[in-house]
Amino acid sequence: MPEFVMSIDQGTTPTRAMVFDHAGRTVASGRKEHRQILPRPGWVEHDPVEIWDNVREVVGVALSRAGLTRYDTAAVGLTNQRETTVVWDRRTGLPVCNAIVWQDVRTQQLCDELAGGGGPDRFRAVTGLPLSPYFSGTKLKWILDNVPGVRARAEAGELLFGTVDSWVLWNLTGGPDGGVHATDVTNASRTLFMDLRSLQWDEATLAGSGVPPAMLPPIRSSAEVYGTVHGSQLLRMVPVAGILGDQQAATFGQAAFGRGDAKNTYGTGCFVVVNTGPEIVSSGNGLLTTAAYRIAGQPPQYALEGSIAVAGSLIQWLRDNLGIVGSAAEAEALAATVPDSGGAYFVPAFSGLFAPYWRPEARGALVGLTRFVTKAHIARAALEATAFQTREVLDAVNADAPAPLRELKVDGGMVANDALMQFQADILGVPVVRPRVAETTALGAAYAAGLAAGYWSGLPDLAANWAEDRRWEPRMENAERERRLRLWKKAVTRTFDWVDADVR
Ligand SMILES: Nc1ncnc2c1ncn2[C@@H]1O[C@H](COP(=O)(O)OP(=O)(O)OP(=O)(O)O)[C@@H](O)[C@H]1O
Ligand SMILES: [Mg+2]
Repeated sequence: MPEFVMSIDQGTTPTRAMVFDHAGRTVASGRKEHRQILPRPGWVEHDPVEIWDNVREVVGVALSRAGLTRYDTAAVGLTNQRETTVVWDRRTGLPVCNAIVWQDVRTQQLCDELAGGGGPDRFRAVTGLPLSPYFSGTKLKWILDNVPGVRARAEAGELLFGTVDSWVLWNLTGGPDGGVHATDVTNASRTLFMDLRSLQWDEATLAGSGVPPAMLPPIRSSAEVYGTVHGSQLLRMVPVAGILGDQQAATFGQAAFGRGDAKNTYGTGCFVVVNTGPEIVSSGNGLLTTAAYRIAGQPPQYALEGSIAVAGSLIQWLRDNLGIVGSAAEAEALAATVPDSGGAYFVPAFSGLFAPYWRPEARGALVGLTRFVTKAHIARAALEATAFQTREVLDAVNADAPAPLRELKVDGGMVANDALMQFQADILGVPVVRPRVAETTALGAAYAAGLAAGYWSGLPDLAANWAEDRRWEPRMENAERERRLRLWKKAVTRTFDWVDADVR
């Protein structure tokens, strides 16, 4: 058996390839960012061809940094930014338009129309999701309705739909030359088209949305051999054996296999996932019900999820759009020059508000401003926003779950920020725990692929790899925590109802 497993993590911001060993340690990695294409307010696109080029490049970088070849690689796992929608021609391999990214809100009106008299929860019983531009379904419908010629080509069987996992898998396994068109249950559960119980496409929903079923990928488990890498690639003949959407991959990488196990990943957005085991739990508090993972031949596992659209991307916005910092590390240092946010609260409702509010018509607001407020306060308010949003999602989790969470396992790029993690523990009132491998997203996909390839023997093997790095205990007084939360919630209400029918 080769000694290593390769993970490809196609994220919203970068694409990463990471090589892991049997102990779950990172051996080498490659990373490259792709362009964020922002044609209009609220629209976010990626170029699927650029993404595929980057996948090949980072795989090459990771292999060469580790001094490895395909003979050292037992399997490849894939994880991906979820919901982002690609439509391409099965003969040429060319996308019909840019990918519409999960953050894109262009389909809000389409959602209102589809809701009709049924309201935004019309599809919740079957799919676990509210109607929102966030999910792939209305993005696909938008492409079918708006890109010239696409509907006719789709109906003629010429076009394929996929989330980014499907796009990368199809290309890795040969593209027009026999590429495998498939997705896994976790990605399919984010489309608005999958029946959570049967784990199959729901024909009634598809018919109601006017989507030709032949363009959808078959839904497979999260850990099985889908195919082997095509002969034209560096990893030729290596089995592609794991697919998990990024948040489910992070849950898997945190070894959160038991009912009630939870994690929060702080990346571009921020996502709390709570494992509910084989049970489908419906939230009364704004959480999504979603597939957590399915190992081939075993029953599916489900989760409740609190999705936050903007977390680390707000720090990137300070850098790229305002130019007040040169990097995320500089934002951390700038925020550390002041003891608090000086009364400022920053609610980054750039894509509307996700959990627990689900207000697509909200837009961002920076409130509580006085002449006292400096860019350091704004940097601090931007960081604190992630902690406040997480607190509101955990309140929803605690309202839905039989027992309150006693601690929060965290991962992702922002958890490098120790002051933010202390503030997070303060605002939550429970400890925050960081594992030794913070790249749990890539690790989770490696785990799924390694399980299917027999590189790891089972879940206990994976759980044994988990180790604590650092823990933050809450230190803030209750009264102060409650005061800050009250102000945060007031700030949130200032973002509501911003988009009128004629706002462009
Ligand atoms: N020291 C820091 N303080 C605050 N935020 C930080 C810090 N370092 C990195 N970040 C933020 O973390 C994010 C990167 O995290 P991570 O690498 O987990 O995201 P990602 O995997 O690239 O995201 P995605 O997969 O969603 O595209 C960036 O948005 C960046 O702004
Ligand atoms: Mg990521």
